[in-house]
Amino acid sequence: MADWSDFIQQIKRNNDIVDVIGSYLELRRTGANFMARCPFHGEKTPSFNVNRNLQIYKCFGCGESGDVIKFVEKYESCSFVEACEILAKRAGIPMPETSTTRDEKEYKERKAKKDAYFAICKDAAKFYWSIYRSEKGAVARSYMQGRGFDDVTVNKFGIGYSPDNFSLPSYLRSLGYNMQDCVKCGVLQIGQRGFTDALSGRLIVPIFNMQGQVIAFGGRGLDEYTIARGKYKNTAETPIFVKKDSLFAINIAKEQKQQTALPYLVVVEGYMDVIAMYQAGFKGAVASMGTSLTEQQAKWLSRLSDTVYICYDGDSAGQKATVRGLDILDRAGLEVRVMTVPEKLDPDEYIKKYGAEAFVGLIDDALPLPDYKLRLLERAFPINSSDPAQRNNALPKYVKGAITMLKSLDDVRQARYITAVSLTTGYSEDYFRRKLNEDGAETQEIIADNMSSEDKAKYFVAACVLHGEDYASVEDKPLCNTAFLSDLYDYLLDCKSKGTKPSVDMLYTVCPNAIEQQYAEIIDVDFSKAKYDVNKRYFEECKRLITVEKLKLRREELMKKIKNDPGNGKLLDELTALSKKITDIRYD
Ligand code: CTP
Ligand code: MN
Repeated sequence: MADWSDFIQQIKRNNDIVDVIGSYLELRRTGANFMARCPFHGEKTPSFNVNRNLQIYKCFGCGESGDVIKFVEKYESCSFVEACEILAKRAGIPMPETSTTRDEKEYKERKAKKDAYFAICKDAAKFYWSIYRSEKGAVARSYMQGRGFDDVTVNKFGIGYSPDNFSLPSYLRSLGYNMQDCVKCGVLQIGQRGFTDALSGRLIVPIFNMQGQVIAFGGRGLDEYTIARGKYKNTAETPIFVKKDSLFAINIAKEQKQQTALPYLVVVEGYMDVIAMYQAGFKGAVASMGTSLTEQQAKWLSRLSDTVYICYDGDSAGQKATVRGLDILDRAGLEVRVMTVPEKLDPDEYIKKYGAEAFVGLIDDALPLPDYKLRLLERAFPINSSDPAQRNNALPKYVKGAITMLKSLDDVRQARYITAVSLTTGYSEDYFRRKLNEDGAETQEIIADNMSSEDKAKYFVAACVLHGEDYASVEDKPLCNTAFLSDLYDYLLDCKSKGTKPSVDMLYTVCPNAIEQQYAEIIDVDFSKAKYDVNKRYFEECKRLITVEKLKLRREELMKKIKNDPGNGKLLDELTALSKKITDIRYD
């Protein structure tokens, strides 16, 4: 742990936030700070501020703030460790050992294997690409033209073509690849005829990961004979391709997000739907490739946007597995909306038939997940049927389903939908509330808006210490009712015991999971010279409040002891002393 925090200090020292962000965005100097157009939300006038002094950034439009590591994490849509890796490489600093890298030999071997697979996939993609654009690729080109795809789109997705069974194997062999490795990464197959192209004779759609590496291929059959063995055939599961965790075109959505923040993503089922949507101007589309959504996919999606539209074929959208997948997205904190495409068309067919503007209409009409579930319920249990017998039969079942749906909601949405469901069923809101309590509804933590003055004081004191105000220091840990405050004070006290200077940007490393409001309490305090006296006085007041709070807790504990042991003179003396101390601090 110690070496890891040294490492973080080191990469921060060697990666000035202005230089790093400046390599991604166009920064304009304004006084001591730098401004840019915020990459995390769409905007025309810059409100994204980079502070060289504090080594942090903050957008005054969307509130997003962080240090250099968090910026890379968000911008590259990668994990914390990956962001550290990027910055370490940039500054020429070696990565520290971790539990995964410690067993170095095994780790290195695994990494080398994976790198070999990535290289093979990349070269296979290049091969398919050049065949598509050669004489042999005429069938594939006319197929794509026939479907209305233009060259820009085809090139953007790296579409290729596999001519036959043996061309790819001999090409890969000529490059010196180990043929077994080519099989292990799914590109080749081995059988009676030796090594063969796993997707021979198919149109090739390369699948990339978030970092833009080719990890697999989708192969579409173009003739009856091939289609008879499956319209699509994909690369088998490999160490670099786990189908259920991958999303087709996630690399393109990421690229789009880097250009203009993505207000939403659209998840569709098929490769061709994504490609058709891209050409029609919807550049935040990804495909789940025919499986129900997983937590890993939810993670990829939430790195790119906070709103996801689901656009599945009519028959699959209502299926249990699909709805379960949507719940996974919901639990990951994504705003989920479900689109309905009429006439059982898929997005590609719909856009071709009705155009991109009509598709925007479908996006506008999408239902929030809870409403969508109610719609499914109503379809299964027709509570509005004109046949009274059917209606009466359906109602209790609908209500039961509605309760299950309500249970999956957080408090705020639950309150809203209880009202809605009560109106549609005629059951009272109280009935639903009772039912939900009965079954021990999960309650979710909601962050209190109205902080106590003691808590406010703790934020302010920490802010003063972090900003290096000369009058500010902490001696002991206050009562901390949030992980944020607790971690923050641990850090401050740790710095004190080590004799190092705490810094504001470390906030994002020490408390990585805080909400913007919590960061804001620390970074938005005005420490300009003009405020010095006011801040200093307020700081003293805050320290007093914090100390009194702690002493009061001790007094309460003492009083409990005295209740159990009323004759104990020592305890009573202690209580008197404590009470005097509290009054003294308050009024001195
Ligand atoms: N799929 C697959 N294997 C199959 C069939 C489908 O992996 N044998 C996946 C593919 O990712 C495909 C998606 O499921 O894109 C949706 O399948 P489907 O609706 O049948 O195909 P479309 O995307 O509509 O393909 P096309 O328009 O080319 O017919
Ligand atoms: Mn289709």
